[in-house]
Amino acid sequence: MFQPAITGSGVFTPDQVITNDELVESFNAYADKMNAQNADAIAAGDMDPIPHSSSEFIFKASGIEQRHVLDKTGVLNPDVMHPQLRQRSDDEPGVMTEMAVDACIKALTQAGLEGTDIDLVICAASNMERAYPAVAIEIQQELGAQGFAFDMNVACSSATFGIQAAADMVRSGSVRRAIVVNPEICSGHLEWRDRDCHFIFGDVATATVIERSEDAKGDYFEIISTRCATKFSNNIRNNLGFLRRSRPDGVEDRRDMQFMQNGRKVFKEVVPMVSAHMLSHLEAEGVSDVRRLWLHQANKSMNDFIGKKVMGRTPETGEQPNILQDYANTSSAGSIIAFSKFSDDFQPGEYGMICSFGAGYSVGSVLVRRH
Ligand code: COA
Repeated sequence: MFQPAITGSGVFTPDQVITNDELVESFNAYADKMNAQNADAIAAGDMDPIPHSSSEFIFKASGIEQRHVLDKTGVLNPDVMHPQLRQRSDDEPGVMTEMAVDACIKALTQAGLEGTDIDLVICAASNMERAYPAVAIEIQQELGAQGFAFDMNVACSSATFGIQAAADMVRSGSVRRAIVVNPEICSGHLEWRDRDCHFIFGDVATATVIERSEDAKGDYFEIISTRCATKFSNNIRNNLGFLRRSRPDGVEDRRDMQFMQNGRKVFKEVVPMVSAHMLSHLEAEGVSDVRRLWLHQANKSMNDFIGKKVMGRTPETGEQPNILQDYANTSSAGSIIAFSKFSDDFQPGEYGMICSFGAGYSVGSVLVRRH
């Protein structure tokens, strides 16, 4: 058995930013337009008007101040309300591959490696841009990586589940060096026309290099252990799938073909599930002095609750860093952005825990120790 280690991580951040004020201005213009179009039905009581959104609500309910996206023009156009991405030919890399490769190169550079050193690529994300061939295999080709590659999807927990899969293969010796990459184009599955959720997501890609600790060329984090759990819930759901055209109205503009959630229930049910999961993982390892929690980045209050429960007190500055104010919820990539941006100051022997959670429900934790 070999000791798996995280030797590099990287983040690709799209240039375009949408602030809460910009988002709300465009949503309200959309709402006014729809209400004007449906004035008669609204006046007759056959239809409710679409209420305005508000920046104050968004910040208070979520802690989000802005989000990065691949295309803000389409999202902010009241006549479009979704990203508009160029149709690429089948002979050029897909958009997920392009952003994934950027994050991979940053992670590989930190690890002192080249793409050719890698023999496993896992593309772990909430959505894949096509059914097949696997996006991971295209990323493998662009990196010049060896071995094999596959896609996996456990929604917001994809990154930690991917790290567990890669770490277990490195531990057993079936692969030598792996990269887990999380290209998340959440603007594609978000329903920008629904004020209950239009503020939630942003786009990003993250990558993590996992190899034998004995191969590490610089500082690294030993992966002490990983733990994954799932429990079925419909409270976060998206019905888009390959059987769409086979169903009545399947190709119509249906609300359930984008992200849907019962936010209150998610909040109430996921917070205790995640806290208990992390506490039992730490207890099983006999670790009580964890220096930092790199949590999934969906909601500030959620993270505050989980941090307090796991630490047994209000976490001090830096013990539970949030990046969601700048990135919003970036699905599986959120905890890895936090890890990548807030881990350089670790001292040898210090423990930290990466934890992601979300649809499924799913929760994954990775206990690491600085070497
Ligand atoms: N602007 C203004 N008001 C809004 C609004 C907006 N953009 N969106 C919703 N509201 C209104 C609601 O209609 C509701 O009004 P009502 O009380 O008159 O019915 C009120 O604000 C409260 O809405 P609610 O949805 O109950 O807010 P909340 O405090 O639960 O916050 C979330 C919403 C989504 C931020 C919160 O539930 C959450 O973070 N849940 C965790 C789940 C999560 O983030 N999942 C992501 C996938 S992992």
